[in-house]
Amino acid sequence: MSKKINTLWVEKYRSADLNSYVGNETIKTTVDKYIKQNDIQNFLFYGPAGTGKTTLAKLIVNNLDCEYLYINASDERGIDTIRDKVSSFAGSASFAPLKVIILDEADFLTIQGQAALRNVIETYSRTTRFILTCNFVERIIDPLQSRCQVLKIVPPTKKDVAKHLNWICNEESITHEINDLVPLVNQYYPDLRKCINTIQLSTVDGGANDLYLKIDQSILVSSNYIDKVINALSEGSKHNKIDCYNDIRQIIADANVDDFDDYPLEMVIDNKDITLSNSDVINDNIKIYDLDERQDSVKEISGDTSATLGEITSEEYHSTIKAEKPIKVVRDLATKFNIENYTKKLNIRSINDNEKLLEFYVSKYPDEFNRKSRLFLSELKRVIDRPRNASMLELSGVGFTTYKSTGVKDFYQYQYQITNFDKIIEFNGHYVIKFKANVIVNGIYLLEKYRLDELDKKYEKKERKN
Ligand SMILES: Nc1ncnc2c1ncn2[C@@H]1O[C@H](COP(=O)(O)OP(=O)(O)O)[C@@H](O)[C@H]1O
Ligand SMILES: [Mg+2]
Repeated sequence: MSKKINTLWVEKYRSADLNSYVGNETIKTTVDKYIKQNDIQNFLFYGPAGTGKTTLAKLIVNNLDCEYLYINASDERGIDTIRDKVSSFAGSASFAPLKVIILDEADFLTIQGQAALRNVIETYSRTTRFILTCNFVERIIDPLQSRCQVLKIVPPTKKDVAKHLNWICNEESITHEINDLVPLVNQYYPDLRKCINTIQLSTVDGGANDLYLKIDQSILVSSNYIDKVINALSEGSKHNKIDCYNDIRQIIADANVDDFDDYPLEMVIDNKDITLSNSDVINDNIKIYDLDERQDSVKEISGDTSATLGEITSEEYHSTIKAEKPIKVVRDLATKFNIENYTKKLNIRSINDNEKLLEFYVSKYPDEFNRKSRLFLSELKRVIDRPRNASMLELSGVGFTTYKSTGVKDFYQYQYQITNFDKIIEFNGHYVIKFKANVIVNGIYLLEKYRLDELDKKYEKKERKN
């Protein structure tokens, strides 16, 4: 009994070595190699809550001959912590061959704090290593990411989690059935912390050292928000409509879901720089389709817009297309902020063969946190409140060249005509801006197109000579 009150099992059963750490076999192999040579890289572990990031960081320092400092950045977020604690630890003399600083939940560090950290990492790189953990890697500024080996912590499988929980129950001599654990894992997966805490809370002392597991069914109500909504609707008939409406609104907000649009996901376009480094191969890549084929609104592009669909000459290509973003937007009017410049990825969902839903993912925590990106985000927040007449949302066409995209091969060109703005939602550290669109060009292979163009040119020359 006393054991149960005094120790948190999440601490007690935090893996002390790699053998008891569940899942992530590749990362374990990497980490094991570093531990054996008693030196590590700077690491950045990211992934969902309760899946073993802190555990892995602590495990590493405990298995190294090193002196270490642990800071939870969610408590100490500012530049002062970095300057005072981190720098003075890193700068102090030590007998250990290595110093390691764990910055847990580093995504809570302010941007200034992160910038200061970048300098500290540089300054003490000879003697000091850093292990950062976070939930959302996009909240970590790029210069920090590039100074770390960035590793995604993948949650162990449900089966492995159940086995692990079973092992804890056995260690604690709790009478239980493995089937007691199944609904628990289904409810909280992938959060092992919640699973372990719930088991601890649900352990009942039947006296005479007879511990058994009694999981309160009310915590295991379906986490599926659709079930909850249906429930609220049937309950709702007993109450008044406004309460029912408010309940449902709350359920949906709590569920933090993005699956209102469950149109099948067709492609995910990565909007990093296109690196068509071999510019000899594709020098005409944007000139895809005849202007006449295009819809009227797309045709009337003029003046200071970022319209580049269909009109870049090969000289322009050499000067502009290299290191451009793959996503291009056509608009009739110039706007102060071009959303494509702030878009990390674009999802294409299929409503039907002709109609698609385009979802622009804009990070709430941009890489470059400068004046411009701040202005953009504050403007976007205003647009969320009143999307009507927002110039930022007035797009007429969208096109892109696939490159390192998911769901589709490289170097295919797609073009869409926007029919209307749909909505903006907040999801997972992003604003997701959604548009409905019709397909205009559905995948033209640029390399083939180029090959044919070149052949045409050659024949033309030949004919002229003759
Ligand atoms: N992969 C894992 N292997 C073994 N235990 C784990 C694993 N992931 C999480 N746990 C358990 O869950 C608890 C929470 O893990 P923690 O590392 O604090 O999660 P977070 O990813 O949020 O930092 C730990 O006490 C640990 O016992
Ligand atoms: Mg943690």
